[in-house]
Amino acid sequence: MAKEIIKDNDNLLEVNNLNVRFYSNGREMKAVNGVTFNIKKGETFGFVGESGCGKSTTSRAVIRLLAENAKVPEGEILYNGTDILKLSQDKLRKIRGKEIGMIFQEPMTALNPVLTIKKQVYEQFIGTSMTNKEKEERAIEMLRLVGIPSPEKRLKEYIHQFSGGMRQRAMIATTLAANPKLLIADEPTTALDVTIQDQIIKLINKIKKQMGMSVLLITHDLGVISQMCDRVAVMYAGYFVETADTLTLFAKPRHPYTKGLIDALPSTEKKNSSLMPIKGTTPSLAELPKGCPFGPRCPYCEDKCVNELPEMTEIESGHMVRCHFSYKLKNASGLISIEEGEQ
Ligand SMILES: Nc1ncnc2c1ncn2[C@@H]1O[C@H](COP(=O)(O)OP(=O)(O)OP(=O)(O)O)[C@@H](O)[C@H]1O
Ligand SMILES: [Mg+2]
Repeated sequence: MAKEIIKDNDNLLEVNNLNVRFYSNGREMKAVNGVTFNIKKGETFGFVGESGCGKSTTSRAVIRLLAENAKVPEGEILYNGTDILKLSQDKLRKIRGKEIGMIFQEPMTALNPVLTIKKQVYEQFIGTSMTNKEKEERAIEMLRLVGIPSPEKRLKEYIHQFSGGMRQRAMIATTLAANPKLLIADEPTTALDVTIQDQIIKLINKIKKQMGMSVLLITHDLGVISQMCDRVAVMYAGYFVETADTLTLFAKPRHPYTKGLIDALPSTEKKNSSLMPIKGTTPSLAELPKGCPFGPRCPYCEDKCVNELPEMTEIESGHMVRCHFSYKLKNASGLISIEEGEQ
C-alpha cells in the first residue's frame, strides 16, 4: 500500500473561532471563547488546563455532543473541509463514531452494562456489508490489539466482568472497531492507577501509528501531554492562552499561566505529574473580566491587562500566545522571573 504523504496543510480537523455558551438559572456562561486550532492527519493534539476551563466542552462541540442548554453562537468546525455545525442529523450520524470516535474517562458510562462486549463492537459495523464471520474476526482483532487476553472468550462477557484497566481497553477497542480517522480521548487515563495509565498511553500511541489516526487528547496532566502530544493548547477560562509544539511549550513557555503550571510540577523530571494549583482561582464564566482572564492571578498584570483582552498572537512560527507582555518570559528559566526592557 502506498504510504500517505502528510502535507504541511493536511488538516483533518480545522476549528475556527469556536464559541460555546451555556444557559442556566438565567445566566449565560462563556465556556468556550474564540477557540481556533487544527489537527493534521496522524497528529496528536492536546488540550491541557485546570478543571472547568472548557476542555470537554470544546471537544464535545466538535462532534455536536453538547448538553441541551448549550449554544454555539459562532464558529466553524471543518472536518475534511465539511462544516460539522451545518450537517443534518443524518449526515452527522455518519461521521460520529465512524469517522470521529470518542473515548471517555469513565468506561462504565460509555459502555452498555446489559450488552456483551461483542454486541457493542458489532454496533460499530452497522451499515457495513461485513459478514458475521468478518465481524467476529474484526472484533477479536480489536480486542487483541488493545491487549485483552483470550479475546474469543472475553467478547462474550459483560463490562462488569472486566477490571478497571480492561474496561478502558474494552471501550477503546469498541471505539476503534469503527476505524475512526480522528479519536477524541477525554481524560482516558485519569481514573486509572499509574501503571495502567502508562499502559493505556503506550497503547493509544501504538494504535495511532498502526491505524494512522489523528488524536485529540484532553488531560489536566502535563506528564500525559509530554508522552503523547505533538502539539498542545493550554486553556484557561474557556480561552486558548498558548499553543505550541510540545517540546517548545515545555522548553520555552511564554504565557505566565503555562509557565506557572510547568514550574509547579513537583518533580524536576516533569513526568506523570498533575497540575498543581496556582495561587488564586479561575474567574466565573458568567462574569469574565473584560481584560485578560488570567490577569487577577498574574504576577505581571498591568493596567493594560485589566482593560484589554489580549489577542492570540504568533510570537514565532507555530507558537501562539494570548498575553500583552509575553516578551517578559523570553529567556526565562526556572521560576518566573521578569525580564524588563525588551519588546
Ligand atoms: N450543561 C452545562 N450547563 C452549564 N454549565 C456547564 C455545563 N456543562 C459544563 N458547564 C460548565 O462549563 C465549564 C467548562 O466545563 P468543561 O466540562 O468543558 O471543563 P473541563 O475543562 O473539561 O473540566 P474537567 O477537567 O473538570 O473535566 C465549566 O465551568 C462547567 O461547569
Ligand atoms: Mg472535562
